[in-house]
Amino acid sequence: MKGKIIFLTCFLLISYLVKAENKQVIKISTNDIDLIYKVGDNGRLYQSYLGKKLHHPSDLAYLPQEAEAYLTHGMEDYFEPAIHVVHNDGNPSLLLKYISHTENSISPEISETVITLQDDKYPVTVKLHYIAYTKENIIKTFTEISHQEKKPIELQKYASSMLHLNHSQYFLTEFSGDWANEVNMKEQPLEFGKKILDSKLGTRANMLCSPFFQLSLDQKAEENQGEILVGTLGWTGNFRFTFEIDNKNKLRIISGINPYASEYLLKPNEVFKTPDFYFTYSLSGKGQASRNFHDWARKYQVKDGGKDRMTLLNNWEATYFDFNEEKLVKLMDDAVKLGVDMFLLDDGWFANKYPRSSDHQGLGDWEETADKLPNGIGYLTETAKKKGIKFGIWIEPEMVNPKSELYEKHKDWVIHLPNREEYYFRNQLVLDLSNPKVQDYVFNVVDNLMTKYPDIAFFKWDCNSPITNIYSPYLKDKQSHLYIDYVRGLYNVLDRIKAKYPNLPMMLCSGGGGRSDYEALKYFTEFWISDNTDPIERLFIQWGYSQIFPAKVMCAHVTTWNKNTSIKFRTDVAMMCKLGFDIKLTDMSKNDESYCEQAVKNYNRLKPVILDGDMFRLVSPYGNNHTSTMYVDKAQQNAVVFAFDIHPRYAEKTLPVRLQGLDPDKMYRIKEINLMPGANSSLPNNEKLFSGEFLMNVGLDLFTKQQLNSRIVEITAED
Ligand code: GLA
Repeated sequence: MKGKIIFLTCFLLISYLVKAENKQVIKISTNDIDLIYKVGDNGRLYQSYLGKKLHHPSDLAYLPQEAEAYLTHGMEDYFEPAIHVVHNDGNPSLLLKYISHTENSISPEISETVITLQDDKYPVTVKLHYIAYTKENIIKTFTEISHQEKKPIELQKYASSMLHLNHSQYFLTEFSGDWANEVNMKEQPLEFGKKILDSKLGTRANMLCSPFFQLSLDQKAEENQGEILVGTLGWTGNFRFTFEIDNKNKLRIISGINPYASEYLLKPNEVFKTPDFYFTYSLSGKGQASRNFHDWARKYQVKDGGKDRMTLLNNWEATYFDFNEEKLVKLMDDAVKLGVDMFLLDDGWFANKYPRSSDHQGLGDWEETADKLPNGIGYLTETAKKKGIKFGIWIEPEMVNPKSELYEKHKDWVIHLPNREEYYFRNQLVLDLSNPKVQDYVFNVVDNLMTKYPDIAFFKWDCNSPITNIYSPYLKDKQSHLYIDYVRGLYNVLDRIKAKYPNLPMMLCSGGGGRSDYEALKYFTEFWISDNTDPIERLFIQWGYSQIFPAKVMCAHVTTWNKNTSIKFRTDVAMMCKLGFDIKLTDMSKNDESYCEQAVKNYNRLKPVILDGDMFRLVSPYGNNHTSTMYVDKAQQNAVVFAFDIHPRYAEKTLPVRLQGLDPDKMYRIKEINLMPGANSSLPNNEKLFSGEFLMNVGLDLFTKQQLNSRIVEITAED
């Protein structure tokens, strides 16, 4: 009897294990992380694991089944679904079963997994795509939805990604704010129920909230410790992240287009492709997560991510709308003196019937204002060429002022409610990019300028209004497609521009950082992170964006904001990103001017370190009176440290700043640079030689007791 029981127990155990092992296991891996799915006995797909890489294949059979991977509306789960479909017969449910999956190697460092799911009663197919960038530990996911019902099905929800986490606590950092007050980092613990981060602004979509988040697991993550998931959506429009904690304290994260007012009628056999959601999972804090994104962005995502960037002088804050040829030529001379690569002509150069003398008129009429620029843009590009600098130009091609010829001729191209009074944001309205004719018009704004003036070397593409008066004359009875078709229309235009002018760098701007997503950055080499150029504010704004974006794509200009700060402080802050100036030399003393000229030279030398190196955030401006950030090149030969005293307190104790990212066994010479002409460095042990070990463990006394002081220290390895 005893033997029989033992035999039976063994038999049951073995058959359980065999069954467990036979279950389809799909593993999406990078060098450090695993995302693992399993097919359940019921044929449905479950996410079993997300976290540090698991190295022993035999363990996988024992992973728990956990939660359904891509939750559908209408079945037995009581929380927010990833997808909600209404079929031709009015049935609003979907039950997805695993059909197959493929695993392809796109390159030795990128692999793609596609999991195909299908409803068992309706001909609806959902394909989950995962692209793993192994070295950078980034996973890109998107979803494709299609069907073969007779008539269109209605998509009410259509997430790009759904992720499940099972931890003791969750801390969410959002990046919210307003115009000139972007990306304030606010951390909060998540409790039962939902927290939503979203945008309904349409065009200037990220003005109030950026499309990225950090989620620390079990405890608040620090720069160099803690498990953290960082995610962002590549969609230049309404986005939504839903964080929902269920009754078991498990967290579900649903990311995608904001389905708000955006039900989508999907025709039979048409494929609805969601935007990409990108995430990384760092086991050693926020700093590593940022560096993962920076490396990946430069290598795979951002337009010309591996190429150089131009320094520039922009006339916006130097002149606003008040300029003429003479003033512009004078500014070009300033650009030459400063030693920057380009002069960028901003808003105010166009329109004749309603000249663009303020932001109240002219937007849409893209010809030079004859009495302001009698010799046209051609004269300016010629002059720039003679002076040995490049010429760039500002446009805002998606928008129109009601006081413009374009509006008078083509009201049918404007998003507006036919039977209501118009509401204006910055005195303007948004053109209807869901309309192919409007797409042609917007493409032609760039194409006409480039055809007429092939020496234009750069565009600043602005977008100052959210979508207001929400009605598309083109979409007629499909109004709920507007937010989506607008963005697709925009990408269509940008694709055409990129195809015809592949080497044309462009800056994305949206009244500052109103557009800041990685899909847009496939077309743009950089973006204007804020209209707020007060260097103290910038320390926070740059700190915020640096969580996701590399310095290479973040434009930072020296201006006259906050005259309490010296030109040195302002320039030192801007040098942490892509440097530019928005200032007249007549606003500066001779001393300031020579300081800036030297700073540009230093910047040019340090560009490979700042723009292409690894960034380490050393001391946060949040909650501190000082802040410091450093960059180290990949060979660990050259580094540069920036340190700022914002508001030191009387008798405050300052600690040495411990550096990071250096080779402990290399010897480095430290040297303070960007000193005012004639000034001597007060940095202790300036120009002395230290081991990387010393610099990283003992540190340098970079902070001072002086208000609004700044220091830049160049660090060079010596054999
Ligand atoms: C926006 C931009 C500014 C400038 C103005 C011009 O506000 O953010 O940099 O280009 O438009 O009108």
